[in-house]
Amino acid sequence: MRKHRKIQILFVCLGNICRSPSAEAVMKQLVQQSGRADQFRIDSAGLIDYHEGEQADPRMRAHAIRRGYVLDSISRPVRTADFFDFALIIGMDSRNVDELRHRAPSVETMQKVHQMTEFSRNRLYDYVPDPYYSGAEGFELVLDLLEDACQGLLDACIPALDETESTPKM
Ligand code: 4NP
Repeated sequence: MRKHRKIQILFVCLGNICRSPSAEAVMKQLVQQSGRADQFRIDSAGLIDYHEGEQADPRMRAHAIRRGYVLDSISRPVRTADFFDFALIIGMDSRNVDELRHRAPSVETMQKVHQMTEFSRNRLYDYVPDPYYSGAEGFELVLDLLEDACQGLLDACIPALDETESTPKM
């Protein structure tokens, strides 16, 4: 009998109040719609603890809810244990990725770190821009980029879920 597979994904941005909580919500909705919710653990975290304990930014939540995404995560900083607990640790821009690789406690855990746009299908952007100091268009762009890249990420994970691999080969 095939072993039940589960993939643990942690999305990471700077503050964990705009991009990574949105990635978490978009990915959760996609896996739910694909009937694979029980095969994923999806969470998000930030590289700074400045917003620890806060809900996602109200502007980000307002843009997300218009597309049907409820951002209900609470900001928390990345912990060393995350590098062991998650199979994929996905930063939103190259600074996030550099910092995550710097903090990774081993070569093996460093290899779990990826950039969100690696999974982009339309390849319009090679990073997810920080919307914190932007206007409405910045928040809409975040959601556009995440909807595209999260679908690519789900597509990349499916072979690992259906075959013998427990850790996706990215
Ligand atoms: P995020 O956006 O990294 O997408 O959550 C930011 C949130 C807060 C800050 C910067 C970016 N900040 O400087 O407080």
